[in-house]
Amino acid sequence: MLESLKSVVDLKPFERDRTARRLSKAANVDDLRKIAKRRLPAGVFDYIDGAAEDESAMARNVSRFGDRTLVPRVLRDVSNIDASTDILGASAPMPLIIAPTGFPRIAHPDGELATARSAAEAGIPFSLSTMGTRSIEEVAEVCPGRKWFQVYVWRDRELTKDMLARCKENGFEALYITVDTAVLGRRERDVRRGMSLPPKLGLDTFIDGALRPGWTLDFLRNDPIVFSNVAVSTERLGNSTADGTSAVSLADYINSQFDPRLSWDDVAWIREQWDGPVILKGVQSVADAKLAAAEGIEAIALSNHGGRQLDSSPAIIDLVAPVADAVGGEIEIYCDGGVRRGSDIVKAVALGATAAMIGRPHLYALAAGGKQGVDQVLEFFLDGVEQTMALSGVGSIGEIDRSLIG
Ligand code: FNR
Ligand code: LAC
Repeated sequence: MLESLKSVVDLKPFERDRTARRLSKAANVDDLRKIAKRRLPAGVFDYIDGAAEDESAMARNVSRFGDRTLVPRVLRDVSNIDASTDILGASAPMPLIIAPTGFPRIAHPDGELATARSAAEAGIPFSLSTMGTRSIEEVAEVCPGRKWFQVYVWRDRELTKDMLARCKENGFEALYITVDTAVLGRRERDVRRGMSLPPKLGLDTFIDGALRPGWTLDFLRNDPIVFSNVAVSTERLGNSTADGTSAVSLADYINSQFDPRLSWDDVAWIREQWDGPVILKGVQSVADAKLAAAEGIEAIALSNHGGRQLDSSPAIIDLVAPVADAVGGEIEIYCDGGVRRGSDIVKAVALGATAAMIGRPHLYALAAGGKQGVDQVLEFFLDGVEQTMALSGVGSIGEIDRSLIG
């Protein structure tokens, strides 16, 4: 009796670490999203998870990856798989970059510091947003790895200029200019809730917070969430741009602070201030990709901002092949929007991308388990890329080409 009981009872030791216990139940990005949904106040989750208008661009980003198939080759000795590749002239263990996202500390108090540490350990470039909640200096202190900074161009050019100088002083390698945010997209989940940033603890968040005590306690116990990059530069410059010390409506803030006159002349101006590589993020057409290549820009990130800006924009994976055909030899091509599995990264590379980027997946992971969550999602993507390569009959990234696409 005891013998037969032993053979059917799983005597795995009890996992004492609560975060590890929670994360052990997540097998993929969607599972991490579900955990994030349980842990975050609804308004915070919706800000991260939501997109513009009917959210059709966001849905299309994901579904068009699913529509693509891979045609595996067999009998090709895949006992050694090497997913490493060069991104901007340096090796990375797989073609993946952490995309810049605003306000990560609303997902978890460690915010960017957790993600940057995890990315450095994994050898993946980490990107910090202008609207970050940890500063260029704070990130540099904990992240010995590759650090890229994303600029939004402010009406007040001195602010942008100061952020670039700080990036240079702190060892940031590359700069994105995000070009799809002339005005903020209409995120209707946020409109309905009157969402502010940082989140305000109003009556509804308190009721909601009572159901999510972990988040609420973290929020109250940790230092206040502010727009750290803006805060440091406004202090250095002695100006008075709002830095999140009081909550703002993101749409009002962005529409009054970011410069909608942004044009190719400003790109040229930024290149004068910055001698490292520049990435244009938010390119969505062959015509603009060609202009970027003609301007001598080092890389473009094909992106519709995860569907958060123009809801009628094209699915990102559909842009990769035509853009690669037009400018592939001249400029590096990254893409983001809807990357949820290692196989999506392989598909992007097969169609001509240098690397893919992830936005929401790393934020769900951060919300689900801080740095441990981000470690897990990066491991999930690396395993997924390697497994897809093995099952497709390719041993190295260099062998992946369009013949793999069905
Ligand atoms: C973003 N994204 C973004 N992009 C950017 O250039 N600057 C920013 O501050 C932000 N902020 C931001 C916040 C949140 C909550 C999300 C979800 C996204 C867009 C991001 O870099 C990336 O383009 C998308 O997230 C990619 O789509 P997926 O991976 O989320 O589907
Ligand atoms: C967003 C801004 C911060 O997508 O880029 O919410």
